[in-house]
Amino acid sequence: MTDRTVAVLLAGGIGVRVGLGIPKQLIKIAGKAIVEHTLESVNACPFIDDVIIVMNAGAIDQLSSLMDRERFPKLTQIIPGGETRNDSTLAALEVLGEDPNTKVLFHDAVRPFVDDRILEDCVKALDSYDAVDTAIPSADTIIQVDSSSHITGIPDRSTLRRGQTPQAFRVGTIRRAYELAAKDPAFHATDDCGVVFTYLPDTPIYVVDGTAENMKVTEPIDVHIADKLFQLQSSSLTADAETPDFTGKVVVVFGGSYGIGSSIVALARNAGAHVHEFSRSTTGTDVRSKGHVKKALKSVYEREGRIDAVVLTAGILQIGPLTKTKVKQIEAGIEINFLAPVVVARAAFKYLNETNGQVLLFTSSSHTRGRANYGVYSASKAAVVNLTQSLAEEWGDDGVAINCINPQRTHTPMRTNAFGEEPLETLLEPESVAAVTLQVLASPLTGQVIAVRVEDVRKAQAQ
Ligand code: CTP
Repeated sequence: MTDRTVAVLLAGGIGVRVGLGIPKQLIKIAGKAIVEHTLESVNACPFIDDVIIVMNAGAIDQLSSLMDRERFPKLTQIIPGGETRNDSTLAALEVLGEDPNTKVLFHDAVRPFVDDRILEDCVKALDSYDAVDTAIPSADTIIQVDSSSHITGIPDRSTLRRGQTPQAFRVGTIRRAYELAAKDPAFHATDDCGVVFTYLPDTPIYVVDGTAENMKVTEPIDVHIADKLFQLQSSSLTADAETPDFTGKVVVVFGGSYGIGSSIVALARNAGAHVHEFSRSTTGTDVRSKGHVKKALKSVYEREGRIDAVVLTAGILQIGPLTKTKVKQIEAGIEINFLAPVVVARAAFKYLNETNGQVLLFTSSSHTRGRANYGVYSASKAAVVNLTQSLAEEWGDDGVAINCINPQRTHTPMRTNAFGEEPLETLLEPESVAAVTLQVLASPLTGQVIAVRVEDVRKAQAQ
């Protein structure tokens, strides 16, 4: 019989350094609390049998929705943490059961990018060692200083590592180390491997390789870095992957008469979805109008009894100096590119709430930085990204997802109207964008901006 392996997520801290006024493990990134992302990774890992969360006692209620047998079958307990990280570890040791051979992995709840490889390496290393740490080499030189900020030593970098988590142990070993620490009046806070290192000096501690991604959200900048890392993960959705099965799903596409919208309609139909397409030219639907959008969604719901996805591809690309553009034109641009996403998302929510469905919007690569002559267009597209992130947080608990596709230059009538004919090899085909769109609709992602790039599609096609 193999030994039971338990992962303990340490979430007992308050996250003073991030300074957002809530425990940092509860900060939402990509639509979910950081601890929830970490729990997803650990729960999905085949090498872990059970998961325990040690949560900051003052905010423990906020995790009660995670005790969901269906979503997280391995999560057995959420217990209150202690004053220090070591106290939180001790709280977990108290509920870990008698068997000293149980393998336990202590992992910071604020390291959401731990992966199966790291977890597997830790679990397997426990077959040969009683204590295991995770670490990466340091790119920076590490210097030692005294209280007057003078350098007192520059250790050889090649022998240094930056410690991460998981830190993994046989339960009997880590318990023994903490028992000895409890008798030491000079004990001072350290990580769990530090307790074994100090009090069981004869126990070798093996080190497995961490990853740069397995960062700890600690300072304010880390929240931004983590957000980008989630986006990078989502960019692994590629146009050439197999089309997901949409049998029985109902998909509504606003702006589906040409360009990217019509490719999505065709591809989703091929994948088995019931697709309903609305646009000004085909159904007289004006996406800026609350009444039109509501009517369209209601008609689909009455016919099909459900709506699983609502996609909005309608948009206009106007370029030109602001002072030379008519106010009416500017208003129309903002309304179609930004007001319409607001109207569509608002009206779609109640239907998608029934199906745990998804809203999918479109932004532009110009959203990250304003450029001359694109001000109103790129500002509206930036607003769409912000809206996506906000609604992902608002709707996270309701199970409604919202994402945003960021296609690079795409060969569509909208683009040709604005720029004339361009070399085809520099443009994405709408079918490639549609293929990624379907991948996103079939994924559990929310709050993400998914880039579709010409180079990535070409590379995938060449393989
Ligand atoms: N932790 C814990 N119990 C504590 C303190 C910390 O379980 N009493 C956990 C944190 O929740 C976090 C991990 O240990 O997942 C790493 O600690 P750290 O980054 O120092 O977290 P905080 O103590 O929350 O942060 P800060 O020092 O900025 O307040």
